[in-house]
Amino acid sequence: MNYELTSEDATRAFGVRLGGLLAGGEILELVGDVGAGKTTLTKGIAAGMGVSEDVQSPSFTISRVYDGRDDLQLSHYDFYRLGDAGIMADELHETIHDPRAVTVIEWAGIVSGVLPADRLTLSIASPQETVRHITLAAGGEMSRRLLENVA
Ligand SMILES: Nc1ncnc2c1ncn2[C@@H]1O[C@H](COP(=O)(O)OP(=O)(O)OP(=O)(O)O)[C@@H](O)[C@H]1O
Ligand SMILES: [Mg+2]
Repeated sequence: MNYELTSEDATRAFGVRLGGLLAGGEILELVGDVGAGKTTLTKGIAAGMGVSEDVQSPSFTISRVYDGRDDLQLSHYDFYRLGDAGIMADELHETIHDPRAVTVIEWAGIVSGVLPADRLTLSIASPQETVRHITLAAGGEMSRRLLENVA
C-alpha cells in the first residue's frame, strides 16, 4: 500500500486517520532517513489516539509515553542514539506486550530482533522537499487489518 503526501499537514492527517483506528497492542515501525517525517507522522498518530499533550521527538530521551482516549497509551521510541537496547530492553518488552499500549518506533534497527512479526512497517521516502511517499507493510493479522482499514 502506497500513499503520496505532499505536505507536512497531509502526513499529519494520514497519521490522525491511522491513530483513529488503533485499539491497543499494535506495533508500528517507522523507517526513513533523518527528516523523513517519522516524528511528524507520530504527532498525527498521537492526535488520532486522542493524545492532547504535545508530542516531542524522543531522540534524546529514547522513549516518551502519552495517555490517549479509552485508556490507550502511546509509547514512542527513537533508538537512533543507542548502540544496543540495553536498559531500554525491559521497558520495550513490557510495552510490546501491553494490550493497552501502542508502540511506535523510529530507528528500530537495534531492536528488530525482539519485535513481533505482526507489526506495521511504514517506510517513508522523500523524493522532494515537501513530498513524502509512505509504503505500508504488514507482518501479521493485526497489522494487516490496520493496513486494510486505513486504505
Ligand atoms: N510531506 C511532508 N511530510 C512530513 N514532513 C514534511 C513533509 N514535507 C516537509 N516536511 C518536513 O520534514 C521534516 C520531518 O521531520 P521529522 O522530525 O518528522 O523527521 P524524522 O523522520 O522524525 O527525523 P529523525 O530521524 O531525525 O527523527 C519536518 O521539518 C517537516 O516540516
Ligand atoms: Mg524523529
